[in-house]
Amino acid sequence: MSRSAHGYTDSIQFFGDHSPSELARAYGTPLYVYSEKVLRERCRELKKLSQNPAFEVNYSVKANSNPALLRIVRDEGLRADAMSPGELAMDRMAGFDPANILYISNNNTREELAQALAAGCLVSVDSLSQLATLGKLAPDGKAMCRINPGIGEGHSAKVVTGGSKTKFGINSDQTAAILEMLRLYNLRLAGLNQHIGSLFMRPDKYLEAARFLLDYAAALPPAQFGQLEIIDFGGGFGIPYHKYDREERLDLPALSHGLNSLMSQWQTDTGYEGKFLIEPGRYVMAECGVLLGQVTAIKANGRNRFAGTDIGFNVIQRPVMYDAYHDIEVYARDDREFINQTVVGNICESGDILAKNRLLPAMTEGDIIGILDAGAYGFSMASNYNDRLLPAEALISEDGSCRLIRRAQTLDDLAACLLP
Ligand code: LLP
Repeated sequence: MSRSAHGYTDSIQFFGDHSPSELARAYGTPLYVYSEKVLRERCRELKKLSQNPAFEVNYSVKANSNPALLRIVRDEGLRADAMSPGELAMDRMAGFDPANILYISNNNTREELAQALAAGCLVSVDSLSQLATLGKLAPDGKAMCRINPGIGEGHSAKVVTGGSKTKFGINSDQTAAILEMLRLYNLRLAGLNQHIGSLFMRPDKYLEAARFLLDYAAALPPAQFGQLEIIDFGGGFGIPYHKYDREERLDLPALSHGLNSLMSQWQTDTGYEGKFLIEPGRYVMAECGVLLGQVTAIKANGRNRFAGTDIGFNVIQRPVMYDAYHDIEVYARDDREFINQTVVGNICESGDILAKNRLLPAMTEGDIIGILDAGAYGFSMASNYNDRLLPAEALISEDGSCRLIRRAQTLDDLAACLLP
């Protein structure tokens, strides 16, 4: 990569024959831009993790649920999960068969669980109390349980989902209570799942937790073990956000090797005939998305130089919520001086900061900038805070054409639910 401030997207020809400035002009900013080529590459990498016929990739749609993108994911042969009626609706809009959608719930209402069951989804619950709700809703049916393996990992405490400090999963010492509940409602235990947290760059803990879940399953009474159709190891696969610092990618060959030997050895040892799933969200979507915005104001406050943009934390929450790092590109000529700048948004809070003291080409009003790796947990976490409108999303197809896959909200949309 050169010292250009857009060397990364140049190097992979992210925008194809389009330029960020042209896209910004055509569709306005802020604008999420996705690359079909990159999305398909990521799907294929994950599918290649294992040739084991029992292995499948279950895309976790919370990372990004735009149906146009989901259709590509489906076309690549991935499955999809859902955890809310909205996600289920997006999956269905994209043509996923509800019979293959895992509804991985957390604290859903009785009505929401009933809706997922009525659609035909296999529902995973992560508390004894929701297992009872499921049993009352559908006695003699199937259930899946999310087990807390006691192992957690993630880029921030807010996304660690294993261990005693999190609200997720049923503790592995509660098996007797699970079995009793299954008996009470005559439920079949069709699957076990877990998710240790979001973003690991080394496969060790993920594999340790996978081994834990397999040991847990093997220790079930033979009647329940024999009913298992799905063992889902969860997601969390990290991507390198520090591209300009040449951060290494997740070691997929090592992960593949570890996972494959675990799965095949266990199949031999136990005679298991069901499926194994992984459930990545970020790895599938993050790198296929760039968020474009424009610089609206430049100011100096004491020693700090601020570049004000139209990318508030309503549009991308990750930097504010987790102190997450995203590389920023400036689509300007390469002769600008690089200086430290704090890149901020247009929201009425001092914490509305995209990047602190980042060495970037001196920005001026009207410059178009790009936030890299914004495809996952970007649009899906966007909000209407400050009554700002949700942005549009555009897709650059493999044939090079670009089209909107979601228009920006309008003021009418903002008022649509108001009552006199
Ligand atoms: N499965 C379950 C049950 C999950 O809760 C999640 C993510 C995933 C799979 C997918 O995890 P991934 O492969 O994307 O790490 N908003 C945060 C991430 C929250 C993840 C929540 N659960 C962020 O922007 O970093």
